[in-house]
Amino acid sequence: MYHIIYSSQAKKAMTLTTLVVLLMQARALNERQHVTGALVYGAGQFMQVMEGEEAVIKDLYERIVQDPRHHDVRKLAEGPIATRSFAQWAMAFGEVPADKFEVLCRVAEYQTPAQMADHLAVGRAVDERLLAKMKELVHMHAKG
Ligand SMILES: Cc1cc2nc3c(=O)[nH]c(=O)nc-3n(C[C@H](O)[C@H](O)[C@H](O)COP(=O)(O)O)c2cc1C
Repeated sequence: MYHIIYSSQAKKAMTLTTLVVLLMQARALNERQHVTGALVYGAGQFMQVMEGEEAVIKDLYERIVQDPRHHDVRKLAEGPIATRSFAQWAMAFGEVPADKFEVLCRVAEYQTPAQMADHLAVGRAVDERLLAKMKELVHMHAKG
């Protein structure tokens, strides 16, 4: 099992309709590929964790990077995981206020390039903090 976490900027403010279209597409594709995860949207920014088979997750990330609906895609974490954090979700979703998204960014900021390079040794604990925060947010602000 493998995961990638990234953040990005929406190209233009997403409306409820464009978010729902995105989410329905993502969930349908993820179900087929046994991908699970969570997507947080707030203040025009996304943060997403996706988990599944390594090759599937790497391929999905490459597709997501190319997606014209957002830009400035920044990888925050990548590596093998023991278990899924969002096993019940084809893609959990939460839309959060700007201040909540800022808190999430602050947790992610601990991931220095050095931590990324030595991911398994150092990144683990940071990932856990970030995943815990994402879990809290999607549960508090869950939609659909
Ligand atoms: C913020 C964001 C999150 C996305 N999440 C997923 C996802 O979890 N699963 C997925 O299959 N596609 C996701 N997509 C859509 C992909 O970028 C892509 O459009 C989709 O996988 C179809 O790929 P294709 O057009 O190359 O067939 C996401 C797009 C954006 C902008």
